[in-house]
Amino acid sequence: MDETALPAPRRRLEPLCAKIGLNAIRAVVDDFYGRVQEHPRLAEPFSVVGDWDLHRERLVHYWWTVMGGLPYREFRYALGERHAHLGLTGTLVEDWLDLFHQTLRDHLDPEPASRWHRLAMGIGESLRLMFSSREGES
Ligand code: HEM
Repeated sequence: MDETALPAPRRRLEPLCAKIGLNAIRAVVDDFYGRVQEHPRLAEPFSVVGDWDLHRERLVHYWWTVMGGLPYREFRYALGERHAHLGLTGTLVEDWLDLFHQTLRDHLDPEPASRWHRLAMGIGESLRLMFSSREGES
């Protein structure tokens, strides 16, 4: 059979997990939480984290699955509950997203960086809406 006569395979959207890969996700997460611990406003709310290795491991797995990767750990997430008592404000969410965006730009090409940033912005917006009653308290 003459294969040149076959129609070209249809291009499918590459899932972000495949495009970025686990190693780069790990590098971004490691670097980001290093920066968080040195940030003038974010370091304080993050002082509740007792086991940073576990936190980073959970976050690597979290992003991998949010990007369409199959779960490889038994982690369960409870974002509302975990963020409920941190005193989140719109400013803190913005700080988090800005720092995350900068970290993404330092590690990745613009296109995957902006796709990942959009995912984070969506989650950040949900967190902001959940805790918007706290706005202006800080
Ligand atoms: C804006 C986008 C944000 C995203 C996508 C995000 C994502 C996450 C995720 C997935 C977890 C793990 C939750 C779980 O284990 O069930 C987590 C935990 C945590 N986040 Fe966020 N977060 C965001 C913003 C923030 C902000 C603005 C703060 C504080 C200033 C914050 C502080 C924390 C802390 C301290 C934990 C650990 C809680 C614990 O271990 O009890 N996050 N975050």
